[in-house]
Amino acid sequence: MYPVLRKLLFSLEPETAHDFSLECLGAAERLKLLSLFTPSVEDSPVELLGLTFPNAVGLSAGLDKNGDYFNALGQLGFGFVEIGTVTPEPQAGNPKPRMFRLAEHEAIINRMGFNNKGVDYLVDRVKNRRFDGILGINIGKNKVTAEEDALSDYEIAMEKVYPYADYITVNISSPNTPGLRNLQFGDNLDRLLEGLAIKQAQLSEQHGRRVPVLIKIAPDMNEEEVASISQTFLKHKVDGVIATNTTLDKSTVSDSPHAEEMGGLSGAPLTQQSTLVIKQLRAHLGGDMPIIGVGGIQQGSDAIEKLTAGANLVQVYSGFIYRGPALITDIRKAVAAHHALA
Ligand SMILES: Cc1cc2nc3c(=O)[nH]c(=O)nc-3n(C[C@H](O)[C@H](O)[C@H](O)COP(=O)(O)O)c2cc1C
Repeated sequence: MYPVLRKLLFSLEPETAHDFSLECLGAAERLKLLSLFTPSVEDSPVELLGLTFPNAVGLSAGLDKNGDYFNALGQLGFGFVEIGTVTPEPQAGNPKPRMFRLAEHEAIINRMGFNNKGVDYLVDRVKNRRFDGILGINIGKNKVTAEEDALSDYEIAMEKVYPYADYITVNISSPNTPGLRNLQFGDNLDRLLEGLAIKQAQLSEQHGRRVPVLIKIAPDMNEEEVASISQTFLKHKVDGVIATNTTLDKSTVSDSPHAEEMGGLSGAPLTQQSTLVIKQLRAHLGGDMPIIGVGGIQQGSDAIEKLTAGANLVQVYSGFIYRGPALITDIRKAVAAHHALA
């Protein structure tokens, strides 16, 4: 059914199609129609981060930025859903258009710029949780917050989402917030991780529950940079890594009419680049640190490559736009077969 629906959706401007499909999904959930689409694939739980993930396939951050639709999205068969990126204060994001389909490459370029309704709105939404899978909440900094004050934005957001999140993702890798990616390197990263660990310890004490904090990184790194970031992650004992966000490298799509658009590229052209970063991370982090692999998973075999490179779980975004809910079943089946062989 999705190929037909996709024809209709792809005839609309990308952000309009995005908003419209989420509205429809929300309505279908309210009318209790979604259970008709819930895949009949057996759960294959994964124990990680002190949590039990019903299956290894998650929805990546950015699709449900405000937490309006995670209950509905969860019913499509995801083992985990990551909402956000949410910032302490609401912000409009960049001017539209800011999302572009490169259909011939099964890719997307976006420069949304963390458009979201702010953390208080999202917290109100997650109070109405019906989704019984794992809920991740991805936090970021406001555009107007100076780079040197980034920690305080992450602390504010972390404090507010902490009671409701199964895990928290600290996004330091969006290419659409000026200067954000500088937080991935050197003293900036060291100071940020030190501050986050202190906050996490305080909140853990206060709530009597330790919520794992993962760091989401960009794919635009050479191996030396991956080695260095890995050493800092190990030093601060971060709970896990999400690799990767979108890429700034558009060389693979230079024939597209949208190739010159500013923003991050995701989907099929990102598959190999993100898998390579996962492989390098695993080599430098050793076997114990959890890695969630994301970037260009368009079919089951792409997910298996991420797992073979060293990821423990996978997430999808662009592939879900191009393939629809069938992608989730496809990956879940491939992962189950892969585990059965292992
Ligand atoms: C339109 C769009 C918006 C996104 N917004 C966010 C975001 O707010 N926070 C975030 O961490 N990642 C965001 N991402 C990145 C995705 O979560 C994912 O890391 C990236 O797209 C690579 O996966 P994919 O190739 O399966 O799309 C966004 C991606 C797209 C296409």
